[in-house]
Amino acid sequence: MDVMNRLDEKKFRHVDDLLAFISIYDDAARTQAYLELLRAHAHAIENRVCVEAGCGMGLFSAEMARLGARKVYAVEQNPLMAAVAREQLRQWPQVEVVELAIQEFEPDHEVDVLVHEFYGQFLFDEDLAALGDLRFQPGLVLPDGGALYCSVLPATAYLDDTVTAAALRELQGVLVSGLFAETGEEFQQKALSWQYGQPFAMHQRIDLHGREGDLLAFALEVSHAGHTICRAGECDNWALVWTPRAGDVCEISFIPDEGGHDIEFRWLS
Ligand SMILES: C[S@@+](CC[C@H](N)C(=O)[O-])C[C@H]1O[C@@H](n2cnc3c(N)ncnc32)[C@H](O)[C@@H]1O
Repeated sequence: MDVMNRLDEKKFRHVDDLLAFISIYDDAARTQAYLELLRAHAHAIENRVCVEAGCGMGLFSAEMARLGARKVYAVEQNPLMAAVAREQLRQWPQVEVVELAIQEFEPDHEVDVLVHEFYGQFLFDEDLAALGDLRFQPGLVLPDGGALYCSVLPATAYLDDTVTAAALRELQGVLVSGLFAETGEEFQQKALSWQYGQPFAMHQRIDLHGREGDLLAFALEVSHAGHTICRAGECDNWALVWTPRAGDVCEISFIPDEGGHDIEFRWLS
């Protein structure tokens, strides 16, 4: 979905995000994986104070209310999303929608559980960094981990009449999400990782020496307590990210930007 007409910059940003974020609910596998994660922690949610950081339409805030949370703060920085959530969550008196960036939120109570889905296709390109900047300390964060895996693959197995070898050459140095259909490949090399409460590197080098293949692909994995919750490709909210290989060592950097991080990517050798 794209906005077709001219809008002022702020309105455009809010509407553009609204359209991007409501489409995540098309991904039934992601929704199901999160509901299962919450239900597996029902004992930690019942009678407790919970926060959903970036509640979107509020589906997981509603689930925490259903699981018996005493209080749920559904915190959402996008005013359009917050208005939608307020409407969706009206039937749950214990849920309070708070229109604020999670980094600015100061709850009246100790927070037992914090739920979030701040994972970008490239791990840190959405808002995971915000969880390192909270004004409260949650007892439990769901999910608490994630990683970006990479793999080098033979381009010939993926090229077709549309994305030809010539077209691929023109994409050197460019990360393209969803360039090819998903692959059944095992992605074993961990390029980046995130664990709640631990500092993470905003610059990372990836060494591909000794690995055969002229196409580099990245896949996000969301995990909790070391167990996979969902993966790019299986949950179609996150596509694989592709780029033609142009060396043996590349570098990824994340540059803070309004509401998230931009990605810088370059080949070093
Ligand atoms: C990927 S959506 C997830 C929505 C919902 N939690 C879910 O999983 O269905 C991320 C949501 O977080 C909001 N968001 C992003 N960064 C935020 C921040 N720092 N504080 C509050 N909300 C934020 C976005 O506006 C968006 O609605």
